[in-house]
Amino acid sequence: MKNLLILLVFLAMAACDNSLSEKEKQEYANKGNEISQASFKALSEKLTEQMKLGGPAKAIPFCNVEAIPLTQQLSEEYKVTIKRTSDKLRNQENKPSERELEIINNFHKLISGKKEITPIVEVDSNNNKHYYAPITVKANCLACHGEVDEFVSIKTDSIIKSLYPNDKAIGYNEGDLRGIWSIEFKK
Ligand code: HEC
Repeated sequence: MKNLLILLVFLAMAACDNSLSEKEKQEYANKGNEISQASFKALSEKLTEQMKLGGPAKAIPFCNVEAIPLTQQLSEEYKVTIKRTSDKLRNQENKPSERELEIINNFHKLISGKKEITPIVEVDSNNNKHYYAPITVKANCLACHGEVDEFVSIKTDSIIKSLYPNDKAIGYNEGDLRGIWSIEFKK
């Protein structure tokens, strides 16, 4: 009887065990890296094109209309859900989930402890796989996310404010954590 009980407990634990093997983790990490890099490339190519055509005044309205549809299109291509999110949002539609916010806060802690940050792969209680990777601020992000009147011109700031009255995504320095890529793999 006692043995049967132990067996039942063991089976119940095995059924709830959603953990991934090291090999699976590596596979999802590789896929996540590939997808986030492709998305970054697609977004920054469009952004650079618009910046050349007319600076922030042209590029900001472009991002406003095109950034989310572009990641949605890539989501369909890769059969995943691609999201960019942050603890200091520009667009409220990119709002983080509770778990995403925890990941961002952990990345902040690692950075302030001068530790290396690497992408995270994990499984949720519904057995969906997730990939999270840091997005850091580069020099060419500052025209729209840096300090106002230093990198972000007063004119650019007013365009941002008119489209995003609750914008928090400003005042960053190069190397700061801007947010994360969050990719959910469909079963
Ligand atoms: C031309 C101005 C511009 C530049 C340059 C720019 N961004 Fe943004 N960024 C925006 C706008 C506008 C949004 C809101 C897009 C939307 O509506 O989805 C945004 C949104 C984001 C978001 C999504 C989270 C949020 O706050 O809504 C991230 C992450 C982000 N930017 C990172 C970067 C990084 C990293 C760079 C540099 C590689 C960069 N941006 C360069 C204008 C810019």
